[in-house]
Amino acid sequence: MTRPSIGVAVIGAGMAGRAHCAGYRTAPTLFDPPLPPIRYVAVVDANEAVAQDAATRYGYDRAGTDWHELLDDDTVDVVSVVVANHLHREVVEALLAAGKHVLCEKPLANSMADAEAMVAAAAAHPGQVTGTGFVYRRQPAVAATKELLAERLGAVSHFNGRYWCDYAASPLTPMSWRYQGGPGTGALADIGSHLIDLSEFLCGPVVSVGGAAFATMVTERAEALGTTYGHARAELSDVVHPVENDDVATFTASFASGAVGTFSASRVAPGLANSLAFDIMAQRGSVRWDMDRPAEFSVLSDLVGDGYDGSRTVLAGPAHPYIRGGLPMDFPGCSYGVSDLFGYQARAFLEQVAGIEGLPPVAPFADGLRDLQIIDAVARSAAAGGATVTLPEHPGH
Ligand SMILES: NC(=O)c1ccc[n+]([C@@H]2O[C@H](COP(=O)([O-])OP(=O)(O)OC[C@H]3O[C@@H](n4cnc5c(N)ncnc54)[C@H](O)[C@@H]3O)[C@@H](O)[C@H]2O)c1
Repeated sequence: MTRPSIGVAVIGAGMAGRAHCAGYRTAPTLFDPPLPPIRYVAVVDANEAVAQDAATRYGYDRAGTDWHELLDDDTVDVVSVVVANHLHREVVEALLAAGKHVLCEKPLANSMADAEAMVAAAAAHPGQVTGTGFVYRRQPAVAATKELLAERLGAVSHFNGRYWCDYAASPLTPMSWRYQGGPGTGALADIGSHLIDLSEFLCGPVVSVGGAAFATMVTERAEALGTTYGHARAELSDVVHPVENDDVATFTASFASGAVGTFSASRVAPGLANSLAFDIMAQRGSVRWDMDRPAEFSVLSDLVGDGYDGSRTVLAGPAHPYIRGGLPMDFPGCSYGVSDLFGYQARAFLEQVAGIEGLPPVAPFADGLRDLQIIDAVARSAAAGGATVTLPEHPGH
């Protein structure tokens, strides 16, 4: 039987938008069974040159500047929403009302209220697939860690995670949407959102957070003179705005399992471009992983107690999730990078749309709201001098 083709579009062609454009291109080359034919319909970005450039590079039929044009376009079935967080709700609600399947970037929204409305909108359209882009769940070494914890290492006692970046370390990085919004919408929501999601992915639900503290080191930034996206430097204008949110966020957490967690997120960590890392201590061993060396993880297991126990370095390879069939050369030691994960995510979403069982599904909007519940609780802890804040139940459970 020939499956009907699927038309895709991407809204926002900045840093992550390009990863989505490329991910949909890669998706049909990965794993089995084959996906239905994918049509690459449109890339939309408010900046015409950016949209056109991405459409040309990634082979999409047309470029546009107004996402509303996708709503009545029957050739578009699947849309990735990859614009600034405060724009997600409006775009997602309109796309769902227009009958589209929607993959939205993390954090799901800039506020809990927006995220709750988006979860409700998804529930009102049960025939359409929705998902939140927690792409790091698809790091092969992270997925392997989840298996190791479940199968060999026993109960977790301590998750210690950090996401340290340096994109905001320089005061010369221009003002952007990333520096606007209330406490918790800065480093915590931008990169801490990934870390929080991974902690629950690996260790189960968080029941409370506490000890939170925020710091803002660069208190004002100048607007760029020309076009800029992502974290790119640009010539600066004289127009300066206050930075409204956190450069650094730290907190602790307790998990329902009895484990405890220590977390930190920073966007002002010099020399650390994209350093997402964790140590997990469990009953019968431990795991250490750092995205600086994404295909390498340290594992301590099967303790003998003869004086020679110690961590060993394991290279993620075809024995681990995502690699076999997930790389053009799926051979041991060939490794992978973040861009590969966007291919896995796009493939998973397209599988869901096509009704194919294969990769783990994309995290539902409820997981995006859950992430924001924890971010909100951390912000309330920080506002209350580090007080303990109890989490509500996961909205999807
Ligand atoms: N999963 C990840 O690893 C990851 C990485 C980076 C960013 N993100 C997320 O992706 C989203 C976008 O982040 P980014 O870093 O790509 O941002 P960005 O600033 O680089 O790009 C955003 C793009 O949106 C365009 N835009 C602005 N308003 C628009 C509108 N109304 N319609 C269409 N386009 C519009 C801008 O011109 C810009 O090109 C955010 O939610 C962010 O948190 C996720």
